Amino acid sequence: MRVLVSGGAGYIGSHTVVQLVAAGHDVVIVDSFANSKPAVIGRLEALTGRHLPVHAFDLTDYDKTERLFADEPFDAVIHFAGLKAVGESAQIPLDYYENNLGTSFSLLRAMQRHGVRMLVFSSSATVYGERGAPPYREDFEPIEATSPYGRTKVMIEHILGDVAAANPALRIGILRYFNPVGAHPSGTIGEDPQGIPNNLMPFIAQVAVGRRERLVVFGDDYPTADGTCERDYIHVEDLAAGHVAALNRLAQVEAPVSVWNLGTGQGTSVFGMLHAFERAVGHELPHVVGPRRAGDQPRSWADPAKANAELGWRTEKTIDDMCADTWRWQSRNPTGYED
Ligand code: NAD
Ligand code: UD1
Repeated sequence: MRVLVSGGAGYIGSHTVVQLVAAGHDVVIVDSFANSKPAVIGRLEALTGRHLPVHAFDLTDYDKTERLFADEPFDAVIHFAGLKAVGESAQIPLDYYENNLGTSFSLLRAMQRHGVRMLVFSSSATVYGERGAPPYREDFEPIEATSPYGRTKVMIEHILGDVAAANPALRIGILRYFNPVGAHPSGTIGEDPQGIPNNLMPFIAQVAVGRRERLVVFGDDYPTADGTCERDYIHVEDLAAGHVAALNRLAQVEAPVSVWNLGTGQGTSVFGMLHAFERAVGHELPHVVGPRRAGDQPRSWADPAKANAELGWRTEKTIDDMCADTWRWQSRNPTGYED
């Protein structure tokens, strides 16, 4: 298939591009580089052995999006482009609503106008809101979220449902990611957060490489085995494989909208992840226990049974793989794509 990958220069998009090419798809990237570096493209070309066409523009611009679809035929769109920092979304909510909804509107309108039927959308486990005990299943309703970022995902999921109801020829796959971590095993592409990382894994990696003094563990008094929060960390390589599987599946399904959780089904605590990273690095890492972070749920993990059965997909990588691959990327690229 000829696949347009929005946000293809970003963390998850870049890993998915490599696997799409390996699976025989023709990939075209569109990215504004709002949260990524053009240097990733050369690394992707080295990994895939292909020239990758890249269109650098902001997808909230409908006219530019329309021109791209008029110039090039696509069979499918994988839509990663968006802003994703939960804390920042509370500071600049309008930017989040405008960007995340606007990019989706442009793509949906251009798809409609040019008869492109297949779309894979990056949603998040954040749409399960403040649920009771995990595991979380796709049929939990109603979806809800506690941040402007999360609400953009809830809104876009509803919009996709409405658009598909009006146009049943569409085939839309909504993928709810749990906690993506890790990097390509080559160590040449990985997560490159701007500024101080918000998420656990990139923060630990920056402590390990000496860019941060120590990890602050956000609370050790939760009702969990070791008192720290438990999350379903999924290797970005397994996550990328889930997109290739979803694309294949969309070519066969009857339903206009399908929702799949992408997670392992296993929870790992903050201390569990820290100690796994220490094993990868070969020594202990400085850390202190601090207060809880507002909005954190004690436990979150997926029920991945639906994705396992319908996509013929399951995760293969372990927590140790996630740490080893993150460390390879971080130690070889201490300042990310800057060097
Ligand atoms: P990322 O920031 O690394 O990648 C997003 C890419 O989209 C970036 O390259 C950015 O430059 C681009 N972009 C942003 N706004 C754009 C616009 N208006 N026009 C064109 N390009 C634009 O993020 P990621 O971690 O790769 O996440 C990809 C998607 O997955 C996002 O939609 C995110 O919300 C979702 N998601 C991520 C996580 C996670 O933990 N990383 C979890 C759940 C869901
Ligand atoms: C966060 C977001 C969630 C989003 C997800 C994307 C919040 C409240 N939630 O989820 O909406 O979908 O990122 O991956 O921001 N931790 C520390 N010290 C740190 C960083 C994190 O102890 O410096 C802990 C957190 O308290 C949490 C765990 O590590 O218990 C994982 O944190 P994080 O990587 O931010 O992911 P989520 O909290 O699951």
